[in-house]
Amino acid sequence: MPRTLDAELRQALAARIRFYNEMGIYDFYRRPQPGRAEEVPVAVEAAEIAVSEHTVDPGEEMSPRKATAVPVALAVEENIFEVMELKPEQSVSDPVKALKIIREDLGDCTRCVLHQQGRKQIVFGVGNPKAELMFVGEGPGADEDAQGEPFVGRAGQLLNNMIKAMGIEREQVYITNIVKCRPPGNRTPEREECATCSPFLMRQIAAVKPKVIVALGAVAAKTLLAMNASMMQLRGRFYDFKPAGVRSNDPEWDGCKLAVTYHPAFLLRDPRQKGEAWKDLQMVMKELGLKAPKSAT
Ligand code: URA
Repeated sequence: MPRTLDAELRQALAARIRFYNEMGIYDFYRRPQPGRAEEVPVAVEAAEIAVSEHTVDPGEEMSPRKATAVPVALAVEENIFEVMELKPEQSVSDPVKALKIIREDLGDCTRCVLHQQGRKQIVFGVGNPKAELMFVGEGPGADEDAQGEPFVGRAGQLLNNMIKAMGIEREQVYITNIVKCRPPGNRTPEREECATCSPFLMRQIAAVKPKVIVALGAVAAKTLLAMNASMMQLRGRFYDFKPAGVRSNDPEWDGCKLAVTYHPAFLLRDPRQKGEAWKDLQMVMKELGLKAPKSAT
């Protein structure tokens, strides 16, 4: 007979799952139980998972933040890890449709304080839904807030030039931000605001399935990598990146590479760093097999 899990056992199970996730193991299968009807889809059996005691170590603890690593199937079965519930776009293979579903889910968002701090509209993202290259900035500024599109102001003009210098066009890449609403006075988004908004970014990433993400600036880099380090420490290498809390429905796509470079707004303030940013972009170009046009070299 299946039995319900007490809180302690659930915690221990979650910790064990995290342990497996950290080793790169995400898929779990239930052993057939003698005398039971054959497998029923997990979502149908939500209330009646049975877990044998020897699969968990009750001594292990798990923080709520780390719970984002729990795999979808078990999250659905247990219904205790809300962050990993099956996302509606996960049954959709067309990234255009998937992004539309995510945008609709975001709705007229009121999840964080930014919705009541003067935003005109949500700035979701723009570009090629099948892009190999994705840029992630910090949050919309005044121009983006007015036009509903990321990177359309001065920083956007510079980003466009950076993209051109890589031998591609803005329309070929996908561009979005960590937070989708303009922070008042262009202040840096708070950690809480980034944390509230980033599940939508993770879903965008899983829908677009890029080969490379370029994090523009420290806020994007630290949020995506969940690391607190300086730009100097973060730049100059690739990271293996998997969007937290969501899995792509494409078995061929198991994450991507992530590079960090300076935010274009920073480069406008300190143009001497453009050479360093160009090095970062050349690393990305090499990865994607891109050649700079003659005029950029
Ligand atoms: N700065 C950002 O981080 N994002 C934008 O969209 C515009 C400016």
